[in-house]
Amino acid sequence: MSLEKTPSETCVLVTGGAGFIGSHTVVELLEGGYQVVIVDDLSNASEKVLDRIAQIVGDEAAERMSFIRADVADRDALEAVFESFPIDRVIHFAGFKAVGESVAKPIEYYGNNIGNTIALIDTMRAYGCKDIIFSSSATVYGDPDALPLTEQSPKKFCTNPYGWTKWMIEQILMDTATADPEWNVVLLRYFNPIGAHESGLIGEDPKGIPNNLLPYVAQVAVGKRDCVHVFGNDYDTPDGTGVRDYIHVVDLAAGHVSALAWMNGRTGCEIFNLGTGTGTSVLEIIKAFSEACGRELPYVIEARRPGDVTANWADCTKARELMGWEATRGIAEMCRDSWNWQSHNPDGYGE
Ligand code: WQD
Repeated sequence: MSLEKTPSETCVLVTGGAGFIGSHTVVELLEGGYQVVIVDDLSNASEKVLDRIAQIVGDEAAERMSFIRADVADRDALEAVFESFPIDRVIHFAGFKAVGESVAKPIEYYGNNIGNTIALIDTMRAYGCKDIIFSSSATVYGDPDALPLTEQSPKKFCTNPYGWTKWMIEQILMDTATADPEWNVVLLRYFNPIGAHESGLIGEDPKGIPNNLLPYVAQVAVGKRDCVHVFGNDYDTPDGTGVRDYIHVVDLAAGHVSALAWMNGRTGCEIFNLGTGTGTSVLEIIKAFSEACGRELPYVIEARRPGDVTANWADCTKARELMGWEATRGIAEMCRDSWNWQSHNPDGYGE
């Protein structure tokens, strides 16, 4: 249960804070006046992001940022963090997140994503810290029966181990809040985060061949890949290609700051969809990115990707009405900012 605190009085542990969504959230937290402690093992992130964050927020705010390189599953390291910092809230991003990889490596995904969560909440409990925001995903809705998806839409069968880890971690946190009413849990179900900070200093930097559409399109635009492979054009959608609710990563990051303010002094478990409420197709994304980068991007139509759903998009009424949060950036800005990041950092952080 969190005592009412102002941002400057609040120390937030951000696991996975050097990652794509984590780093953008750290920027918003620092600019919002919070103390931030990042724990990240850098298995899917670069330490360079820390300097980039400092460049964005400036010296005073960067003074409020600490970084510990550690695996969240390492209980000794976690205990050292809680011994060293007065952690009030936790935002839990750390976890493997490649859908395709999770199908090939289920043991690693269940072991890492669920194992690090258990270590984290067990350590939190030991130090009397019971306020957590979890980075969940619309993937827990599976293949929707009806759209738009609300927080009351049923959680369905996931199509990959990555999705199941999000599904199961939600359940672990809900059960924890049921067992101990002092817990204060917020589950944020992201739709499809894309884009980058307007500075172009931080952005998405996937290792190897990107699983997700946007980083792949951006790499085609910058000349690292030949063409976009469109996974199916025979879906029941206006142009036959998959439809998703893409949300600007900075809007998503701001949603975490809104959730921190909303959960101040509360207990229980609350779920929020973080999306835009608008569905966009693969071909529409390619067209928008072509306009952002100033040239037509080549693509080929391929077979459907196993596990893909036809369409999903969010109803975000609850986040707007309870937290006063809503996304403000559209597809054009998402592509513009993604292109700005990619064109200035063709090799990402270069590691
Ligand atoms: C989007 C659309 C593809 C790649 C997953 C997770 C979600 C979140 C984001 C991690 C689909 C099509 C894709 C490509 C394509 N997790 N596509 N060619 O699968 O909706 O969501 O990633 O950050 O939790 O479930 O995202 O970007 O992979 O796919 O045609 O090279 O683009 O078929 O229609 P997805 P995605």
